[in-house]
Formats: sequence, structure tokens, C-alpha cells
Amino acid sequence: MRILVTGGTGFIGSHTVVELLNENYEVVVIDDFSNSKPDVVDKIKTITNKEFKFYEGNVCDKELLQIIFKENKIDAVIHFAGFKAVGESVQKPLMYYRNNLDSTLTLCEVMNANNVKNIVFSSSATVYGNPKGLPIKETFPTGETTNPYGATKVMIERILKDIYISDNTWNIALLRYFNPIGAHKSGLIGENPNDIPNNLMPYIVKVATKELKELNIFGNDYDTVDGTGVRDYIHVVDLAKGHIKAIEWVLKNNGIDAFNLGTGNGYSVLELVNAFKKYNNVDVPYKIVGRREGDIGSCYADVSYAKEKLGWESKYDIEDMVKDSYNFVKNSTLHM
Ligand code: UFG
Repeated sequence: MRILVTGGTGFIGSHTVVELLNENYEVVVIDDFSNSKPDVVDKIKTITNKEFKFYEGNVCDKELLQIIFKENKIDAVIHFAGFKAVGESVQKPLMYYRNNLDSTLTLCEVMNANNVKNIVFSSSATVYGNPKGLPIKETFPTGETTNPYGATKVMIERILKDIYISDNTWNIALLRYFNPIGAHKSGLIGENPNDIPNNLMPYIVKVATKELKELNIFGNDYDTVDGTGVRDYIHVVDLAKGHIKAIEWVLKNNGIDAFNLGTGNGYSVLELVNAFKKYNNVDVPYKIVGRREGDIGSCYADVSYAKEKLGWESKYDIEDMVKDSYNFVKNSTLHM
């Protein structure tokens, strides 16, 4: 089976390509390196000792997609490519809507024209907005998002549902990720944003390596265990393995469905910071500041549906997550 992975050199994409190759899938990757580095391609090959085909380009480029489908017999697509920074999406809504929607529409058109109708889509727990309860189930209402990035995820889910309604020979898995952190055990691939990070874990890591002075904790007056925000952090390798299960599921002609990919456990910001300090034996200075606009107090998944339907559940715990996140950044700084 040959899988096309869009955005396959990004954080989640690269770990998924590793797992696909480990499972002996043929892999074709398209990425424009807009949020990743070219050396990831070789690092994936080093980790797996396997080859895969790589095309540099943007998924909005229809001609390139046509060439890819002509040159490779694709059985299914995992669609990661997209912009993902919440704050930036508020500043640059047109860029986010244009890129995330256009790439998906172009991809689906070319898939349709080539009679490839199996897709796994990279969605997000952001589609639940302010969830109606906890833990979050797939049946909860979606759509009330607070930023353009989240809106593109909701819109793409809708587009894919409409494609399925018009043609039920499509098979579509909508994977709603919670908060991916951690990195591959090799320390070769992981998440290391160039700019000042928006997300908690990359920020903690940069404070631990003294690249940034201190962490700002956004609010300690939420209705949570210690007042700081609670999230469902999941190891990126677990998440990647969830994609393998989702590919197996779409290839069995299951139609369309949505799945939460999380651990089911919520950790507060302070709990994560303390675990990071303890297991890495390093200091992480922080100060409490006001809430960040658009944040919710708590967000964690009900993971029973993915377990039941995909036969998937997370394996790594918080110790693995904080150690692997730090290991990757220490390792990549060492080799710069
Ligand atoms: N936080 C801080 N300080 C920081 C960064 C974050 O205290 O410098 C806190 C936040 O307030 C929140 C928690 O850490 O309580 C996690 O924040 P992240 O920015 O890491 O993650 P979010 O849960 O806000 O957002 C993530 C992804 C989105 C996705 C969403 C879905 O970044 O893409 O999960 O639930 F849409």
C-alpha cells in the first residue's frame, strides 16, 4: 500500500512517516518546508533505514499534485499540510483560509480525478470550541471556534462530510488531536519552532535551555486542580501510531467518522512544568500572568471511541513526554 503524506516533514507528519515506514508502507511525501527543515527527510531515513519519495512543493499546486498522482499509484492520503498557529491566524485570516482550504480542495479534486478516495485528515480538538462537558466525546457539538485556524478545521471537516454525502465510496477519518508533545526517542525529529513558541511545551523547553528567561503561565484562576489550564497532552509517537490505525480503518471501506486522539488524562500547566523539572532535573522559572484570550480552562478527551473502532490507545506517560521533548531539543542544539 502506498500512502501520500502531505506535510510529512512537520512535527506530527514526520513521526507518522516513521511509523508508516516501520509498518512497511510505501510512502510519498509532499512538503514546502514552510514550517519544517529539509534535513528532516534524511533524518526519517536514518531512523527507519528505509527510503521514500519526496516532492518539494505546496499542496495548493494542482499541477504538482497531478504529477504526483500520475507518477505514483496512491492508495490513501494523510493530509497534514496546513498552517496551525492560533495567534497568527487571528492576525492573518486570509492567509489561513486561503492556504488551509485551498490545499484541501485542490487535494480532494485531484484525488477524485484519480479515483483515490481514502483520506485521513488532521483535525483538532479545537473544533469543539468551549466544550459542553468533560471528557469530550466525538458526538459533542462542533463549530463554535474562537479563531480562523480553528474555523478552517471545522470547515474542512464539513467539506469532507459533504464529499462523502455526494459519493459514499469515499472513506474519511477525521482525527481530532488533543495536545501533542514529546519527540522520537532517537532525538532526531521533534518540535523546535524558530520563532518564540505559542504552545506550552516548546516554550518550557526553551526556558529550560535558557534561550528564554521564564515561562508566562496564563492564569491561575481557572476551576481546575491548581487554577492553571488543564490539557490532554499526548506523546507524538502515540499520535503517529493512531494514524496507522486510521489508515487501516479507511482502507477497510468504513465510510466517514471522527475520532479523538488523546490520552484521556488532563494535566495542568503547573503539573506539566513540575513533571518537566523533576524528570529532566532542570529548572523552569515561571511567573503567573493574566489569562490568554480565547483559552478554555479544561480540555481532555474521552478516548473510548478510538479504542473501540480503531483498536488504538496511547501508551506513553507524562515522564516519557517531558523527557523526549527535552532530549530532542538538547540533541538538536548539540548538533547545530
Ligand atoms: N500556556 C501557558 N503559557 C504559554 C503557553 C501556553 O500558560 O506560554 C497554557 C495555556 O494557557 C493552556 C496550556 O498552556 O492552558 C496549553 O496551551 P497550548 O498553547 O500549548 O495549547 P492549546 O490547548 O491552547 O492549543 C492546542 C493547539 C491548537 C489546538 C488546540 C486544540 O495549539 O492548535 O490545542 O485543543 F487547536
